[in-house]
Amino acid sequence: MIFNMDNFDQNSNEKIFITGGNKLYGDVNISGAKNAALPLMALSLIINEDFRLSNVPDLADTRLMLKLLDDLGIKSNWDNGQVNFNGVAQKDEASYELVRQMRASILILGPLLASQGSAKVPLPGGCAIGSRPIDLHVMVMEALGANIKFDSGFIIGSVPSEGLRGGKINFPKISVGATESAIMTAVLAKGQTIISNAAQEPEIVDIVTCLNKAGANIVGEGSNTIIINGVKKLKKLQHDVVADRIEAGSFAIAASITMGDIEIKNIIPKNLEKFLKTLEYTGSKVEISKTAIKICASKRPIPYNIFTEEHPGFPTDLQAQYMTLMTIADGKCKISENIFENRFMHVPELIRMGARISVNKQIATVTGVNYLKAAKVMASDLRASMCLILGGLVALGTSEVDGIYHLDRGYENLENKLSDLGANIRRSR
Ligand code: UD1
Repeated sequence: MIFNMDNFDQNSNEKIFITGGNKLYGDVNISGAKNAALPLMALSLIINEDFRLSNVPDLADTRLMLKLLDDLGIKSNWDNGQVNFNGVAQKDEASYELVRQMRASILILGPLLASQGSAKVPLPGGCAIGSRPIDLHVMVMEALGANIKFDSGFIIGSVPSEGLRGGKINFPKISVGATESAIMTAVLAKGQTIISNAAQEPEIVDIVTCLNKAGANIVGEGSNTIIINGVKKLKKLQHDVVADRIEAGSFAIAASITMGDIEIKNIIPKNLEKFLKTLEYTGSKVEISKTAIKICASKRPIPYNIFTEEHPGFPTDLQAQYMTLMTIADGKCKISENIFENRFMHVPELIRMGARISVNKQIATVTGVNYLKAAKVMASDLRASMCLILGGLVALGTSEVDGIYHLDRGYENLENKLSDLGANIRRSR
């Protein structure tokens, strides 16, 4: 492997300093999606021949996933956004030290069971945005014939001698990760699996596209019913990770909030449909072409209520950034968070910058102010860190954003991309 995690240190005391006031202009290329890259990487456990991924974003989370796979015996090399995987897993036990750092590590459970016939994966911890249980992942494994038990903080899974078999999975609640788990585990199981109430996120479509290229037989991706006819083996392939719609949406808000004009390139605009409609309601001009969008704004945003929903609804991963836009809107609006129970951790930090927000359970009421003021703020999670950067872009004075290792989990090369658009931003200790 030719990477290390040293650049992504949770204990680093680096901060981002941003002086607000610059309008952002120009164009920006969007990276591959973290949320697609992570499950795609986990596929290396079941695609054993010459598997190559391109457009892989260089992030703390993607590096961590490679480390986790490396520890299991899957070797890889990473060169300029391309990762080549080779080798097969040599063991079934995932490292606690690595799994505890990233909740998405749970995605290796199904592929490990499918490839090794057994798996021992530490329970991923909770996280700032909620308790985030894994019951639906476990339900998937059991529906496909695996035996699951819990012991000393580990999920211990085993597959009966006849192997995994297709089954009916009817999710009581929509889950992106559990839908991915179901697809990745069922693809090599004997017979047919029908997933009802499946998540419809573009990242799921991307995983299915990749698997079908490798010889899988899956239909229905992007709808709420996915049907998988198990195959015996997956063959070699190369796949480009889909563009990161959340990074694209974050840059769109950067254009709106600074009253700038940005062309956001290398994306699939339809994956952002609901969000872009919302941005138009707030007064931004949105021009959509085949693989790009152009966002510009010339006045204070119009307040507009939103509620987060599973795709194709308004994404929870853009809720915090949208809230920052609404803090300077010309009036009051409500933002309802319906996916995670504790995803308003950014509110007290935005209030430090002068925002007027009150929270009642899952609903935040935001009353727009004329301007935000620079402050020292602390990022509590990945998307919250971006919302504070957006606040810093328009606040009067120089803001200091701490806890930016969260940012490094999900935004590739952010400071350079923002400076190229004209932002006054730097990272320093
Ligand atoms: C994924 C994304 C994350 C995004 C979220 C919702 C990745 C790596 N992360 O997270 O960025 O915010 O989708 O769009 O793709 N739940 C259960 N039991 C389970 C699993 C989930 O109750 O076994 C609940 C969760 O607590 C949450 C809801 O289901 O309330 C949706 O979570 P889920 O879609 O699973 O999110 P993740 O896959 O973890």
